[in-house]
Amino acid sequence: MEPYRIKVVEPLALTTPQQRQEALRRVSYNLFDLRADEVTIDLLSDSGTGALSAAQLAAGMAGDESYAGSRSFYRFHETVSDLTGYAHILPVHQGRAAERVLFSSLLSPGSTVLSNTHFDTTRANVELAGCTARDLPCPQAADLDSDQPFKGDIDLDALRDALETATPGSPVAAVVMTVTNNGGGGQPVSMENLRRTAELCRLHRVPLILDAARFAENAWLVTRREPGYQDRTPRQVAEEAFRLADGCVMSAKKDGIVHIGGFIGLNDTELAQKCERLLIATEGFSTYGGLAGRDLDMLAQGLTEVTEPGYLAERADIAAHLAQRIRAVGVDIVEPAGLHALYLNAGRLLPHVPPHRYPGHALACRLYLDGGIRSAELGSLYLGEEDEDGNPVKSAPYELVRLALPRRVYTRSHYDHVARTLEHIAKNADSVHGYRVVDQSPILRHFSIKLAPA
Ligand code: F0G
Repeated sequence: MEPYRIKVVEPLALTTPQQRQEALRRVSYNLFDLRADEVTIDLLSDSGTGALSAAQLAAGMAGDESYAGSRSFYRFHETVSDLTGYAHILPVHQGRAAERVLFSSLLSPGSTVLSNTHFDTTRANVELAGCTARDLPCPQAADLDSDQPFKGDIDLDALRDALETATPGSPVAAVVMTVTNNGGGGQPVSMENLRRTAELCRLHRVPLILDAARFAENAWLVTRREPGYQDRTPRQVAEEAFRLADGCVMSAKKDGIVHIGGFIGLNDTELAQKCERLLIATEGFSTYGGLAGRDLDMLAQGLTEVTEPGYLAERADIAAHLAQRIRAVGVDIVEPAGLHALYLNAGRLLPHVPPHRYPGHALACRLYLDGGIRSAELGSLYLGEEDEDGNPVKSAPYELVRLALPRRVYTRSHYDHVARTLEHIAKNADSVHGYRVVDQSPILRHFSIKLAPA
C-alpha cells in the first residue's frame, strides 16, 4: 500500500466526451496545447508533477531567501555532497540548464558526446555547443518484448570502438550515462555496465557524466535485478553510482520530487569554475542558481525521501499494477516495466495506421477522447520526417505512447481508469484512425504541431 496518507487534495477535472472532442479540435489535435483543466488524468510527464511531502513543505517554510550564502544553500549543498561525493555542486533551475552550463563550458565545437541514449534536451544542448550527440544503446534495447533486466545499458563494444577510433581532429569530449534511460523506454543501467564504462572513460581520459534525473529509480531496480546488490539499500547503490562518474547533471523535477530545481556536480575544479562563471551570468549567483531558498530546502528534503525503500517499493508496485492490467487487456508495453513510465506499443495495437499517419498519436488522442487521459507520443511524430508533399522521409523505429507516472499523485483506482479506457480502445482498435500534419515547425515539432484527422 501507499506509504503515506493524503492530507491535501485537488479536484480532478471531469469533462464530457463532447467537451473533449471540442477541446481536441480547438488545439488542432496537439495534446500539449490542452489546458490542464481539460485533462482528467495527466500522464504527459513525471517531471515537476510530483506531490510534495509535509516535511518538504515545512522545509520550504524554513527557506532562507538571502541573496548570497543562504542557510538553504548550505543545507542543499551538504545533502547533495553527501549523496554524490562531488567536490563542486552548483544549483540550477532545471536539468536542461545544467546541460547548457556544463556543455557550453566542457565541449569544443567539432567533438562528439556518446551516450546510452541522450534525452532530447541533452541532445539539443550538445548540438547547440556545435558537437555531435551519438547514442550507443545496447543491442537488447531493440527487442521491446524481451524482459532482460538492464536494457538501459550502453553498448560497451561500440563505446570502446568509438573511443579507440576518435582522432585529435574529432575527439570524444564526454560520455553521458542516462539513468534510467528515459529515451530508451525507461530501462535501467546496471552497475556492472556503469563500472566498465567508467574504466573505459578513465583509460581514454574522457569524463563520464551521469544524467541522474532518475538515479533513485535506477538504484532501486539495481537492488531488485542485479546479482550482488540484493542486500544493498537504494541509497548505497546511488552513492556508488555517483562516485563511478566524474560528475553529473540532475533534473531534480524527477527524483528530487520538487516542482523546479536541479544541479551540476563535478570533481574537476577548473571545469567547475568555468561553469560557475557562466552560471552567475545566466542562471544566478552560485548559492542559488535560479532557485529560491525554499526550493533548495524542499529539494534537499526530497533527495532524502526519494531513496527510502518503502517509497520506491510502492512506486514500483503501482507501476507493476498498471502494467499488469494493461497486458491483461491485450496491449503490449515495452518490457520489463520500469518505474517512471510505461510505454505502450501503439504500432502493434494499430497495424492499420501507417507510421506517417502516426499510430502513437492516434492512440494518445483516443486515450484523451475516451478517458480524459493525457499521454505523449514517442514515434514518427516525434522522430520522423516527411518531405514538402507529406511523403515519408524518416520513420521512428517504434511507434510508442508514454504514460508517465507522476510521483505520489495518482492512486490505483486512477490507474484502473486508464486500464479500462485502454481495454475499450483495444476492443475497438479498428475504429482508431490516423492523423495528417497541417502545420509544423522545423525543430522539436511535436510541441507545436497542428494536425487533422486523416
Ligand atoms: N534528462 C532526462 C533523462 C530527462 O528525462 C529530462 C526531462 C531532462 C534531462 C531535462 O530536464 O526538464 O528539468 O530540463 N524529462 C522530462 C520528461 C521533460 O517528461 O521526460 P528538465
